[in-house]
Amino acid sequence: LHALPRRKTKVAIIGAGIAGLYTALQTSEYADVVLISKKELDDSNTRWAQGGIAAVTAKTDTPALHRQDTLIAGAGLCSYDAVDVLVHEGPDRLQELIAYGTEFDRDEQGHYELTQEGAHSKRRILHANGDATGAEIVRALSARVMEQPNITVLEHHFAIDVVTQNDECVGVIVREPNGELFFLEADATVLATGGAGQLYRYTTNPEIATADGIGIAYRAGARIRDVEFIQFHPTALYYPGAPRFLISEAVRGEGAVLRNSNGERFMDKYHPQKELAPRDVVARAIVSEMEKANATNVFLDITHESAELIRHRFPTIYQFCLQYGLDMVTDWIPVAPACHYMMGGVQTDLHGETSTKRLFACGEASSTGVHGANRLASNSLSEAVVFGHRISERIKELPDLPDVLPVRVVADPGQRHAAGTREKRVKLQKLMLRYVSVKRDEKGLRKALEELERMEQDFQDIPMEREDFEYLNLLNTAVLTTRAALMREESRGGHYRIDFPEKDDLIWRKHLVQSIYAGVQ
Ligand code: SIN
Repeated sequence: LHALPRRKTKVAIIGAGIAGLYTALQTSEYADVVLISKKELDDSNTRWAQGGIAAVTAKTDTPALHRQDTLIAGAGLCSYDAVDVLVHEGPDRLQELIAYGTEFDRDEQGHYELTQEGAHSKRRILHANGDATGAEIVRALSARVMEQPNITVLEHHFAIDVVTQNDECVGVIVREPNGELFFLEADATVLATGGAGQLYRYTTNPEIATADGIGIAYRAGARIRDVEFIQFHPTALYYPGAPRFLISEAVRGEGAVLRNSNGERFMDKYHPQKELAPRDVVARAIVSEMEKANATNVFLDITHESAELIRHRFPTIYQFCLQYGLDMVTDWIPVAPACHYMMGGVQTDLHGETSTKRLFACGEASSTGVHGANRLASNSLSEAVVFGHRISERIKELPDLPDVLPVRVVADPGQRHAAGTREKRVKLQKLMLRYVSVKRDEKGLRKALEELERMEQDFQDIPMEREDFEYLNLLNTAVLTTRAALMREESRGGHYRIDFPEKDDLIWRKHLVQSIYAGVQ
């Protein structure tokens, strides 16, 4: 064993999406911050967010209505307190995003343009450059971060694990681009590592969404909650040779309709809100229509709208589809559901602190209680800033760490690259797609769990490359998700069991929490 070289900071933040960038800016007002990004600063899931950010700004809207919509979408599992925090503090945080330089779209009178998405009772979603909201937020926040002298940005650095001593988190082991490791001691460590889309073969998420925060927190003993609830976005592009590019729900918000292989609209058979029903309902309806017709996709039709509206409101989607010869103005767009968002994550309190002291989680990596069993569209960017602010307030009050012992690792791990990681990751993604997807049952879940647990046991190589650690994080999370999905014998939000198709409030209006120490509770 040898002691790792040590550096020190007040706040270590892992991840450079909206949660990491925003929390870094807030905490940098009073502390030194190190921001760790596994790729470039602008490479995050946030960068791809299209629809927008939900917060009450219109005179005709109220936090109470936003609360009600969030609770209904969450299907009985939201934390009332967390939702209250979100809807009441969201508008102020939105103003801060604007103060940091984010430019949301406005109409000719200078009022914010508000769009609509599924299960919202009001137009309350702000967007930027039409359908490129996340890219604008990342642009503005990363420019600010680069200007702050007390934020050190470490690009192409990878956080392997956090370190705990006396039941508190004392920092993080970081891998440098050349493979060397060091220990970053920190009074507070924030997991802002984003989502888990790469659990599935088909996802709207980029390559980097590998559930790092959940893996790290689980191995450190923190509580992981609600990870059986995975949101499948109903409308990802489904076209040979094209990635599963997100076709924003805002397209339906502006009037697009869904059609099956026979060209018929079908959503009225499934829900009174039709195309704007909650996402889980729309995704399952699409899968049912695909099964009936033995088809790989359905179609999204916005051809009745003017070419001007389509090109102005959805410039990114329009251009992307056009590359593949699909013109939204005249063509129906082939779409199918794809994994989009992890509702659960690392359980936190109302100040973003996990069950491990001094370890915080923010954004998609966290489970604050806001999303329940199904996230309301465009609530995720708001959640990241609302709880990022609260985390910053809490860290401000934290006393300095007592003396921290050296962190020792195996002297020479042998510079081995775990064999076949890429293939194993694809195998995991296929298992998850086949058995732990939009529709699940006991037989499939058992099969997946057995196989995933075997893969976990087989993971003996000392991993050296970033991809190996990412695979480990995915594997740990896949096991947690599958185990919880097998235990939850009901259907609710983003968890649907063919063998238990009803919601069961009597037994199952509760959370499944997993930790390395206490198993499943
Ligand atoms: C979308 O634009 O449909 C995605 C918005 C979200 O996932 O909140």
